[in-house]
Amino acid sequence: MKHHYTFPKDFLWGTATAAYQVEGAANEGGRGPSIWDTYCRMPGWVKNEHNGDVAIDHYHRFKQDVAMMKELGVKAYRFSVSWSRLLPTGRGEVNQQGLDFYNKLIDELVAADIQPWMTLFHWDLPQALEDEIGGWASKEIAKYFGEYAAVIAREFSDRVKHFMTLNELGAFTDCGYGPSPMNPPLHILDVKGRNQVRHNAILAHGTAIRALRANAPSDIKIGIAHNPGARIPAVATEENIEAARRFFMFREEYYLVPMMEGKYPDHYLEGEGDNAPDFTVEEMDIIGTPMDFIGFNVYGSAGYFVHDATRPLNTRNLEAAKAHPHMFAEWIKVDPESIYWVARFIHERWSEPDLYVTENGCGCDDRLTTQGEIHDTDRITYMRSYLKEVHRATAEGIPLKGYFAWSMFDNFEWRDGYTKRFGLHYVNYATQERIPKYSAHFYRASIASNAVL
Ligand code: NOJ
Repeated sequence: MKHHYTFPKDFLWGTATAAYQVEGAANEGGRGPSIWDTYCRMPGWVKNEHNGDVAIDHYHRFKQDVAMMKELGVKAYRFSVSWSRLLPTGRGEVNQQGLDFYNKLIDELVAADIQPWMTLFHWDLPQALEDEIGGWASKEIAKYFGEYAAVIAREFSDRVKHFMTLNELGAFTDCGYGPSPMNPPLHILDVKGRNQVRHNAILAHGTAIRALRANAPSDIKIGIAHNPGARIPAVATEENIEAARRFFMFREEYYLVPMMEGKYPDHYLEGEGDNAPDFTVEEMDIIGTPMDFIGFNVYGSAGYFVHDATRPLNTRNLEAAKAHPHMFAEWIKVDPESIYWVARFIHERWSEPDLYVTENGCGCDDRLTTQGEIHDTDRITYMRSYLKEVHRATAEGIPLKGYFAWSMFDNFEWRDGYTKRFGLHYVNYATQERIPKYSAHFYRASIASNAVL
């Protein structure tokens, strides 16, 4: 059967998770505490006082979990390393049991012919580094992150060929340390302090790239899993596209632009004035260390833009319509073209790196039917619409090379605890049984035909 939405031959179909959300075994195997362990114990921050102590027990069930990935037909699995499982205090001696766990997981994946894609940091900062140096608020974090990256390269790069330094910068910088933090470590800082945290994060990113390259074979590929805000032209006329693009780049002046170009734009430095971060020329050089690919996570848009000459940057974000469609997790809007515009705006400015959707998916209120099935037609509709926009980008020649569905399994959804389910597989949290949802069938069929079904 010929499908209209057929992907290029080598398109990479994957699925993703992150350590704190799935591993569990929080107090086993010599793992040190992370800032998320601490935060989950502070009353009122996480729904129902949930935490990742047990999560979906992936630490003990990884073999079965990899078998389910094989069954699904994915070519790649994106997961993160728990920094404090490998280095319990964030630095110094390596924890052998942590090494053993990741080695076994990697071997299992390789044996199943699934490429391991490893994220170095998915928010679970070792508590010791927060206590001792102030976490991301300290420039020293870059040095320790580099040392951690060197350990990762030495231990895993014989089998792991794809690395992502950081996951979603804003979620742990702005949301963890800003003037009004919501995520751990809830470190209140002024605007300059917040800008410094952003700077320290991109400095850590560049430092890690150098450490990975210095300690791994030359065939590794390094990128990031960023979450740029998707700015959609409300009506795609040339001037609205330009307005959306301008705003997109304005919000990347302290993330993608310095990472890709090794300098902060004058517009940013002038705009921030005394609140600009402290930095040196040498640091900017490190920050601009080239990446092989840019990964981005997209769940919906950050606005619909039109040209408006009366506004700053000649751009206006339309007020969101009340009835704008969204998923059960209300922040997830049904804006499939988000994926296309992010890919396009990035590629137009930086044509070199390959692009990957490192996360896309949605949080639903999945229920078991009386036959024990999960009819998540909402998730299928959502994924199908986003995948068509991935296809659109590839059809236009944008090097969008793969897509990682978030998530392989239901798991610990941060502040929402276990109340929002993102998996292609349902997890019964009482028994830890995993059951493929209908979206898993949809995804398997799409992978098998290399098309959107
Ligand atoms: C982005 C994060 O990287 C991931 O950890 C989270 O579960 C999903 N978004 C859904 O909120």
